[in-house]
Amino acid sequence: MRLANRHALITGSTKGIGLGIARAFVREGARVVVHSRSAADCAAVAKTLDGAAVPIAADLSRAEEVRRLARTALDAMDGRIDILVNNAGQPRVAPSTELAEGDYRATMDLNLTAYFLLAQAIGRQMIERGGGSIINVGSINGSVAFPQRLAYCVSKAGVNMLTKVLAIEWAAHGVRVNCLAPGYVETPFIQGLAAQGILDTRKLAARTPMGRLGTPDEMGDAAVFLAGDESAFVTGAILTADGGWQAYGYL
Ligand SMILES: NC(=O)c1ccc[n+]([C@@H]2O[C@H](COP(=O)([O-])OP(=O)(O)OC[C@H]3O[C@@H](n4cnc5c(N)ncnc54)[C@H](OP(=O)(O)O)[C@@H]3O)[C@@H](O)[C@H]2O)c1
Repeated sequence: MRLANRHALITGSTKGIGLGIARAFVREGARVVVHSRSAADCAAVAKTLDGAAVPIAADLSRAEEVRRLARTALDAMDGRIDILVNNAGQPRVAPSTELAEGDYRATMDLNLTAYFLLAQAIGRQMIERGGGSIINVGSINGSVAFPQRLAYCVSKAGVNMLTKVLAIEWAAHGVRVNCLAPGYVETPFIQGLAAQGILDTRKLAARTPMGRLGTPDEMGDAAVFLAGDESAFVTGAILTADGGWQAYGYL
């Protein structure tokens, strides 16, 4: 029970990596806010989490909705959120010559600006109380370039630096800020790209030294480490969980 009595807000936690993190946090004793755009999905997932979850829906591509989520989540958690996981994000795949300005901006709004606004709103409350842990879910795409993913890669590189600046500003207040950077993980996000023929999961597994994609539960375990006291001296870090993808440089 490494997160006993902690209160956590995990964005995008009805599916995929966010759901894996929510399950792991509840297993370790936390109360969690389950979030996505769909109120029905949030309610359905919250029911599966042993009475430890509160469902709240909000569209994080809109700044006023991000601020509403911060307010309602704090109200629902008795004014205290100890752990924030900025996770909701979406891919955008297009050749850079064709990438529409609106799509570029929408990717930044959700994958980066919403992370900042939520970290700011919840971070102020953590600073007042003297502690907290913020985990920004980035990607290996924040450090290595993939073709046709300009907006996505730029947003994730921004998440790396957002993490580092907040970490050094808030370290003296006991608020730790870290980034969890997954490689390819089996989620609806990846399944959607595979169904459109944009990704080939067998090739991705073959390119990964471990020979497979990661699982949402594995991301949950990594997030438990960053959220809890075992990482008490870890801040401003990018924890890569990619089965060796980034380390591999051969054919
Ligand atoms: N899967 C991978 O291989 C991989 C690798 C590296 C990094 N990541 C990162 O991990 C994070 C989660 O990815 P995933 O694969 O778990 O994605 P996913 O399976 O598509 O789940 C995304 C979650 O975010 C929610 N969401 C999407 N758009 C939203 C919006 N505008 N406002 C609020 N909620 C929204 C979704 O619910 P609704 O659609 O119902 O709102 C869902 O709960 C993302 O930041 C992604 O960039 C994933």
